[in-house]
Amino acid sequence: MKVLLTGGAGYIGSHVAVALAAAGHDIICFDNLSNSRADVIDRLETITGKPIPLVVGDIRDRAAVRGAIGKHGAEAVVHFAGLKAVGESVAEPIRYYDNNVRGTLSMVEAMIESGVKTLVFSSSATVYGQPKYLPLDEAHPTSATNPYGRTKLMIEEMLADIAGADPGWRIAVLRYFNPVGAHDSGLIGEDPSGIPNNLMPFISRVAAGRLPELSVFGNDYDTPDGTGVRDYVHVVDLAEGHVAALGAIAAGDAPLGIWNLGTGEGYSVLDMIASFERVNGVKIPYRIAPRRAGDVASCYASPDRARDELGWTAQRGLDAMCGSSWTFERTLAMRNAKGKAGE
Ligand SMILES: NC(=O)c1ccc[n+]([C@@H]2O[C@H](COP(=O)([O-])OP(=O)(O)OC[C@H]3O[C@@H](n4cnc5c(N)ncnc54)[C@H](O)[C@@H]3O)[C@@H](O)[C@H]2O)c1
Repeated sequence: MKVLLTGGAGYIGSHVAVALAAAGHDIICFDNLSNSRADVIDRLETITGKPIPLVVGDIRDRAAVRGAIGKHGAEAVVHFAGLKAVGESVAEPIRYYDNNVRGTLSMVEAMIESGVKTLVFSSSATVYGQPKYLPLDEAHPTSATNPYGRTKLMIEEMLADIAGADPGWRIAVLRYFNPVGAHDSGLIGEDPSGIPNNLMPFISRVAAGRLPELSVFGNDYDTPDGTGVRDYVHVVDLAEGHVAALGAIAAGDAPLGIWNLGTGEGYSVLDMIASFERVNGVKIPYRIAPRRAGDVASCYASPDRARDELGWTAQRGLDAMCGSSWTFERTLAMRNAKGKAGE
């Protein structure tokens, strides 16, 4: 298929571009580059050996989305474009509702105007709110604890209504757990601007000496070592989940399906630090900081529905997650050093 990836230059989008290209699809990236750089596309072309057109545009611009779909003959959209920082969403809720909710609505309208009704949406385990039981399956009640989570929940509800009104839609809602790691080439990965919100890029930057130490938020949770437990899933596995989901909805007859993408295994912050140190032979200085408001003690998936219905299970373990993150960080440092030398 010809597939338009909104947010395709971002962390997860770029990995999905590689996986879709490897599965024989043609990729078009659509991104406003608010949290990514155009040169990611050059590296995607190096990895895939295929031309990947980039349309620089905003999902809130209906004509731009319609134009990109029309020009490239896209038959499906995989929708990553969005803002994702929880703390920022509390401080700037209007920006989040505008970009994520209004943006998605506008993009869906552009799809309808273009006659495209196949959509894969990046949702998040954050829609489960405070877990009432573990592992979290797709039937677990949903709720939101911050504006970012509420945007994901609102979009999910909006898509369910849209699919309910028109059975011609084929929508996959994918609830990601904690994506980490990078493509083995080291050419693409997670490189947030400013201080990272997520654990793995924080660990990598401490290992590289770009940050002095890691803050571990809370060591008095009801978990085996007191630190928070999460379901870390390798981004390359996650990307393969998108290929499976796109194939399943395109071949199926249900207007909408919801699938968790996680491993089903929970690891604590201290587990992650120890694995990173062991796999990469580095030291991660850390200190215990107070709990962060809204963080839950443990969160991990039941990945059974994705296994049974999509034929997808995560293949890569903690060593691959930690090893590839460090490869990416070091490749990035070399690229930046070369860039500086060339200035
Ligand atoms: N990374 C995670 O831990 C995680 C977990 C669960 C869900 N998600 C969701 O997955 C999606 C992708 O996340 P990511 O980690 O790759 O983030 P990212 O910031 O690396 O990628 C998002 C991309 O979307 C682009 N973008 C943002 N707003 C846009 C707009 N209005 N128009 C066009 N492009 C726009 C950005 O420039 C960026 O390239 C997001 O929707 C995020 O909420 C991420």
